[in-house]
Amino acid sequence: MTVTDILVFGHSGQVATEIQALGDVVTLGRVDVDLSDPAACTAAIHAYRPRAVINAAAYTAVDRAEEEEALANTINGEAPTAMAGACASLNIPFVHISTDYVFAGNGTRAWLPDDMTEPQNAYGRSKLASEVGIRASGCTHAILRTSWVFSAHGDNFAKTMLRLSDSRDELSVVDDQIGGPTPARAIAAACLSIAQQLCDACVVPHRCGVVKLHLVAITRHDLRRRRWWWRQEALP
Ligand SMILES: NC(=O)c1ccc[n+]([C@@H]2O[C@H](COP(=O)([O-])OP(=O)(O)OC[C@H]3O[C@@H](n4cnc5c(N)ncnc54)[C@H](OP(=O)(O)O)[C@@H]3O)[C@@H](O)[C@H]2O)c1
Repeated sequence: MTVTDILVFGHSGQVATEIQALGDVVTLGRVDVDLSDPAACTAAIHAYRPRAVINAAAYTAVDRAEEEEALANTINGEAPTAMAGACASLNIPFVHISTDYVFAGNGTRAWLPDDMTEPQNAYGRSKLASEVGIRASGCTHAILRTSWVFSAHGDNFAKTMLRLSDSRDELSVVDDQIGGPTPARAIAAACLSIAQQLCDACVVPHRCGVVKLHLVAITRHDLRRRRWWWRQEALP
């Protein structure tokens, strides 16, 4: 499979930009498909009929989501669920990105995949809704939870700190947060690699014997002569 078989939701975001840098994928930006219209996501997948879909788009304004929870739910929960449903109906794999915000945030060690989810804000709830919807869709899928994404593109904490440090003598930052900064390039590479592996797992292999027998010939005569073959291959 080549990466041209992969349809990516997202175009100008951090991860979507890095996916494009790594492969010749088809990307859909907001102007192509608005995730606030989940039916449009379904239609796009059916129109492109790719071999795999990656969702790198999301409502990522964590604080603003408190005032726009319904919109965040549609973009982060319903749209990926619709994508997963389309992938299920076409029997193609779906790779989706989620977040550590699905957890309570009070852990003393790195979160593990099976830890209990307990989102504490609207953004976390909307991302958890995507996980639940994707699992329920029945499609072949992978959900990558990541945290503190950074890259040279878009907005991220590292760029904000660098920019502020150019203009201020002092910076004040909360000191109660510990996380794992993750390069968008690493997430992009993981998404592409997993999409490829899931495609490989979804193939429909053909397996049949090399000996060609005509069914009528078997039925009509020389069963005795052919019996040796059945015995050799399968029969006791
Ligand atoms: N950033 C983080 O620290 C972080 C941490 C954990 C998990 N994640 C997850 O990682 C994934 C990628 O994050 P990122 O940092 O690459 O995000 P990002 O840079 O904020 O990009 C988000 C993308 O989503 C698109 N988008 C937003 N609303 C849309 C809409 N209504 N219709 C269509 N597209 C829409 C944006 O398109 P426009 O460019 O047109 O606005 C943008 O390309 C997301 O699932 C996010 O939840 C991110």
